Amino acid sequence: MSRPGTPPQESNGSEVVLILGATSMIARETAATFAGAGYDLTLAGRDAEEVERVAADIAIRHGVSATSERFDALDTDDHRRFAEAVTGATGDALAGVVVAFGVLGDSERAATDFDEAQEIIAANYVGAVSVLTHLVPYFERKKSGFIVGISSVSGDRGRGSIYTYGSAKGGFSLYLQGLRNRLHKSGVHVLTVKPGFIDTRMTYGAVKPGMAADPAAVARAIIRGVRKKKSVIYVPRIWRLIMFAIRNIPEPIFKRLGL
Ligand SMILES: NC(=O)c1ccc[n+]([C@@H]2O[C@H](COP(=O)([O-])OP(=O)(O)OC[C@H]3O[C@@H](n4cnc5c(N)ncnc54)[C@H](OP(=O)(O)O)[C@@H]3O)[C@@H](O)[C@H]2O)c1
Repeated sequence: MSRPGTPPQESNGSEVVLILGATSMIARETAATFAGAGYDLTLAGRDAEEVERVAADIAIRHGVSATSERFDALDTDDHRRFAEAVTGATGDALAGVVVAFGVLGDSERAATDFDEAQEIIAANYVGAVSVLTHLVPYFERKKSGFIVGISSVSGDRGRGSIYTYGSAKGGFSLYLQGLRNRLHKSGVHVLTVKPGFIDTRMTYGAVKPGMAADPAAVARAIIRGVRKKKSVIYVPRIWRLIMFAIRNIPEPIFKRLGL
């Protein structure tokens, strides 16, 4: 019996989903949702001990296999080895990957401190492009599978309050869009996820209580999006409308709004 929100067609248990940035609140919920649908997991993150704890917890609660791997988005020199280790260990069973890691950073500081700006760009954009560059050939050869990238509504329009993070996420959204077009003929599905405010470590203290959505809603939307082969999803859905309006405000007005 599937849990609410999991797809009706469940994995036969021999398929594996790789989750990068597995200690993220959204990633934990996503891992649990895929596990609830019968997928085995490879969880990866920079805090190896915490990733192991998350994997052990999910394996016990859902009765699936969950292995852990060390992965640092900033350590791009290690991404080829990482991708080979994961695809080598899972063989043909790797069904998909979820890129969940990300850094909000300090937007004010990033405006004047390039080290801060660089980390935001490196984690959200360069690291994601790097690891996917090493993983994509596996899916292209296999002619199946899914790639989920968690971007952000912040990437839909440059705002004065958060433009470094926004530009990195915007770059990631465009990268995923191009990748989707490239991989379409290979039968590989690419899903771009654009969350609005979600109640996680990233937004603690920054968003008024009640204004942020449950990370479990993102997890449910992701698995639905994979099942329905969606291209771009906004979570909660209202953000598609909000961002449509925001994208269409003329620049002369937009720059006066102080957003
Ligand atoms: N929360 C929101 O409102 C919101 C809105 C739009 C988009 N998003 C995106 O959603 C995704 C998940 O974020 P979240 O909200 O769940 O926040 P979170 O709990 O703060 O998760 C961020 C994750 O990124 C990982 N990470 C940061 N730098 C890394 C690096 N160099 N290498 C590997 N992993 C690294 C963190 O690992 P550690 O545990 O080791 O720090 C953590 O697992 C992110 O891509 C974020 O940009 C969130």
